[in-house]
Amino acid sequence: MPRIVRFGVSVESELLRAFDELTEKKGYTNRSEALRDLMREALAAQAWEEGDEVLGVITLLYDHTKRELLSRLTEAQHHAHVHVLASLHIHIDETRCLEAIVVCGPARLVEELANRLRAEPGVLLGHLCPAGTFGRS
Ligand code: NI
Repeated sequence: MPRIVRFGVSVESELLRAFDELTEKKGYTNRSEALRDLMREALAAQAWEEGDEVLGVITLLYDHTKRELLSRLTEAQHHAHVHVLASLHIHIDETRCLEAIVVCGPARLVEELANRLRAEPGVLLGHLCPAGTFGRS
């Protein structure tokens, strides 16, 4: 278990009131947990900016009837210089599939793969969700 430390923060009362309202809306039970999550988010964003080793989930909604799209998507994943850890495929309706691809690797290469996949004709929607970093909490 990491050691917990307490620290004091000076802040305008209006800002604190607005922050407390927001944390309550988001379902946090206390201010500390909300603040810890903001700190982790800031550190993760910094890690992505600096090109660190990251974890991400690429989601793709695509039309599987589009000619050779499936093989192009698979090909791109095999040739990317990132690790594809897992992928989940869901048949949404007669033509559309949703795929969630969990990848890890340097931030720039993860972004490159996500861009390449969503640029394929037949991909209707594509998103990259930063899911975490290595070596930072
Ligand atoms: Ni499918």
